[in-house]
Amino acid sequence: MRDQRRSQDLVVRRLRFSDQDDICDHFLRLDAKTRRARFCGAVSDKGVLKYAQNILRYDSIACGAFVGGELRGLVELTGFSHSWPSKAEAAFSVEAAWQNIGIGDALFEHTFTMAQNRRVGTIEMMCLKENNPMRHLAAKHNAQLIVDSDAVEAVLHPSWPTPYSIAKEIVAETSEYPYLLFG
Ligand SMILES: CC(C)(COP(=O)(O)OP(=O)(O)OC[C@H]1O[C@@H](n2cnc3c(N)ncnc32)[C@H](O)[C@@H]1OP(=O)(O)O)[C@@H](O)C(=O)NCCC(=O)NCCS
Repeated sequence: MRDQRRSQDLVVRRLRFSDQDDICDHFLRLDAKTRRARFCGAVSDKGVLKYAQNILRYDSIACGAFVGGELRGLVELTGFSHSWPSKAEAAFSVEAAWQNIGIGDALFEHTFTMAQNRRVGTIEMMCLKENNPMRHLAAKHNAQLIVDSDAVEAVLHPSWPTPYSIAKEIVAETSEYPYLLFG
């Protein structure tokens, strides 16, 4: 039978204050395994909610992946206004039922472009050592993987903005042009 998840369009765009309820709902829907992978440890509903209510800060950018209008995946780029050359940390979450169909990949590409356009020199991502999907996603985007005793740090260095990268972000943000989910 055809996988229904693959027949729907995916829209990736920056999240705004008007998306706050969707952000909280997305984080609360993350199952225990996904939460552990995302936060590198167990987190209660209360803890997740508190976290979700604070992600739209002045020094962060959050992008969401919407499938059929529902927020199913999210990436945060944090801390990039604290240093020069700018350094930011990226953290991803895709709901378990929506993993492995390209949402993480689409979020990665969009975030990378946004970081490039804001002259972020270094993007860092931390995950547990056993988080093979995240390791694979980072390696696929040419990140350098630094393996610790129980964690992995993935590091990327975006190039300077180009007319293409700026146009790519503008088109994505203004048209909400849907990616097609292919298996
Ligand atoms: C990591 C995560 C964001 C990836 O999102 P996703 O939407 O599933 O990603 P995609 O579907 O775009 O890509 C997943 C890739 O991992 C691969 N993969 C899946 N399971 C894998 C495994 N056990 N080992 C290696 N690769 C694996 C898939 O084949 C796919 O690769 P491909 O596109 O080359 O075929 C998602 O799994 C997630 O939210 N995990 C929990 C939270 C988390 O780990 N966050 C990272 C900490 S910052």
